[in-house]
Amino acid sequence: MLSNSFNQILFSVRLRKIEIIIASFFCILAIKQPLSAQSSLDRRVDSVLALMTLEEKVGQMNQYTSSWDITGPMPKGSRDSLKFMLIKSGQVGSMLNVLSAKATREAQRMAVEESRLGIPMIFGYDVVHGFRTMFPIPLGEAASWDVDAIQKSARVAATEAAAAGQHWTFAPMMDITHDARWGRVMEGAGEDPYLGSLVAVARVRGFQGDDLSAPNTIAACAKHFAGYGFAEGGRDYNTVSIGDAFLHDIILPPFKAAADAGVATFMNSFNELDGIPATASNYLQRKILKGDWDYKGFVVSDWGTVAELITHGVAADEKEAARMASIAGCDMDMEGYSYVPYLTQLVKEGAVEEALIDDAVRRILRVKFMLGLFDDPYRYCDAEREKSTLYAQAHQDASRDVARKSVVLLKNEGNILPLKKNQGTIAVIGPLAADKDSPIGSWRANAVENSAVSLLEGIQAAAGKKTTVRYAQGVKLTAGPRNFLSEVIVNETDTSGFGEAVRIARGADVVVLALGEDCWQSGESRSRTHIDLPGLQAELLAAVRAVNPNIVLVLMNGRPIDLSAIEPQVQGLVEGWFLGSQTGNALADVLFGDFNPQGKLPVSFPRSLGQIPIAYNHKSTGRPTAGGNVFWSHYSDEKNDALFPFGFGLSYTTFSYSAMKLSSETLRMNETLKVSFTLTNTGKVTGTETAQLYTRDLVGSRTRPVKELKKFQKVTLKPGESRVVTLEIASDDLAFFTARGLREAEPGDFEVMIGPDSRNIAAKQGFKLVR
Ligand code: NOJ
Repeated sequence: MLSNSFNQILFSVRLRKIEIIIASFFCILAIKQPLSAQSSLDRRVDSVLALMTLEEKVGQMNQYTSSWDITGPMPKGSRDSLKFMLIKSGQVGSMLNVLSAKATREAQRMAVEESRLGIPMIFGYDVVHGFRTMFPIPLGEAASWDVDAIQKSARVAATEAAAAGQHWTFAPMMDITHDARWGRVMEGAGEDPYLGSLVAVARVRGFQGDDLSAPNTIAACAKHFAGYGFAEGGRDYNTVSIGDAFLHDIILPPFKAAADAGVATFMNSFNELDGIPATASNYLQRKILKGDWDYKGFVVSDWGTVAELITHGVAADEKEAARMASIAGCDMDMEGYSYVPYLTQLVKEGAVEEALIDDAVRRILRVKFMLGLFDDPYRYCDAEREKSTLYAQAHQDASRDVARKSVVLLKNEGNILPLKKNQGTIAVIGPLAADKDSPIGSWRANAVENSAVSLLEGIQAAAGKKTTVRYAQGVKLTAGPRNFLSEVIVNETDTSGFGEAVRIARGADVVVLALGEDCWQSGESRSRTHIDLPGLQAELLAAVRAVNPNIVLVLMNGRPIDLSAIEPQVQGLVEGWFLGSQTGNALADVLFGDFNPQGKLPVSFPRSLGQIPIAYNHKSTGRPTAGGNVFWSHYSDEKNDALFPFGFGLSYTTFSYSAMKLSSETLRMNETLKVSFTLTNTGKVTGTETAQLYTRDLVGSRTRPVKELKKFQKVTLKPGESRVVTLEIASDDLAFFTARGLREAEPGDFEVMIGPDSRNIAAKQGFKLVR
């Protein structure tokens, strides 16, 4: 049975010799240990490993990019022809950025039919928020707090990617961050480890499905392990200095949840942690991940991070870098060019144990087996399926569904929203209003440029016949090339479009103004030191407002924007992120009230840049409140709290929270406490509220956050309808990294709070955790 499936890849053309080797290997194995002691998967893995030379094993640990798409700096000598030779000599276990069923089939053919053992390659790609059909950027999608919709989005992305030859996505990114300057805030689920964990698991499940070997599922990758979201100054790739408790309580929970959910792979990170680059970190990779968590998948380096141990200054040369990374538990070298040239020699010299190489290769082969690549290495290379799958209507529908759930209504003064469909004249103004490209976002995988439905198109399609829709760009956002590799140059000078914008604003009943960032201003290596609206957009707003104050500002952006100066100037404020292919339709659904907004911020929007880093779950400090003089923890020129707090988002209806009850005043270890309350829709339309539950541990062996999200529930209620919501807290939900260096819950007094967001607490009660 085992040798049967493996024989398929040997393609009878070759190697009667190897069949004999496999047969004798099984005899040896049977003598050495009872077969029942090993899982069938492990036996299949070992049957392949036993055939491999040391060079071939090291080859499995090697990953190259194709030059067809570049997602990082290109090392010298990375021409495809050279790589093709290496594939044929069994030196390439994986490639990234090989796109399309046709291209992957050809590359796979070289590995399977022309290398000695014919071990299939695994093809990876950054399928971050969609493949051809784009979904909201992950930060936006997290604002839906809808784990089913998020799972569905990843499911669609996997279906499309798998149809185009991909086996493996480098997603989900689950880096928590408190820093809006960091460009990759757009790629995660925001600032909270609990929400982040649920979103991470939903995405892993969506990508991987129930069966990794199905032709429409792909392996996921938990990245970046770990701490990458806390780069100093928010500058990408920068140093990270955080304590162990912070690492365990804030950064690791989504990774642990993903590991528990069976994520197939991990990626380490560019940053150092306490002086040790993550790629060389035994503590992260061997102790925590493969030791404490008993993780069985493999760890891929981030792009070039093995060789970057030299520029970090912990390795003198590539050989030392290869030694350090492999010993530390980095199983695959992505575009680092360090494992293939040096690992074999390092093993022969006794500097790296062969057992470590075997362990890495076993992990990699196991994932290849799980994907079914040994049964059919071309399973994912079906050009017909690719054609019929990409951009399918059902995928567009799924995208629109989660996109509108991701929209967050931040302000609705005088109920300017929803807009009436027969409003008179709507002036749609702004650099992002007719933009069909930025809404796709910056991790756009295989998306077609300019393929999103623009806001203008969405409004035009939804507005009634009696409504006149006028458009003016007003101002350009950028003044130069826009792409993955170039720096964005912001337009700081050209105001030539202001006149037309003012003219149409003057004659309109309402202005829908679309401002924000170009999508290439967030994402990898897109850090900013200013997080207000770039370029001349604030000036455009002022000019428009001077003639028409009825303004609904629709934001498109990949990070929290400093809205302090902007918010007072508009009546309606809608956070529209980059919502993907169906952006305009999703936004129009919300603006015209066909869909009642329900998104809640997964990240705090600061009042000013100087508040960063900021998160709702901060500590108390020794001086949290004013005591009659200046000596307390505050700014002398700004409030401490966010402009829009974590969890915040309005609806076209209103909700009330009442009758909070606890099932008991005490919670025993390993038991649960029920927290119930009545939620009522007190407004005039059906709406969905995300009711949130926070706790505070009043006294701990280490200081505890002032609030921590522990549970939430989305509840849809008709006008006047009430429902009793019951949320459960288990004692384990209260665990943290205690002064004993263990994750455990400590007995003592707690507060439990419920409410619509992290600032507006509707009710709270105390309880005691007891042994
Ligand atoms: C570098 C990024 O940090 C990582 O997230 C991505 O998967 C790789 N490049 C491959 O493109």
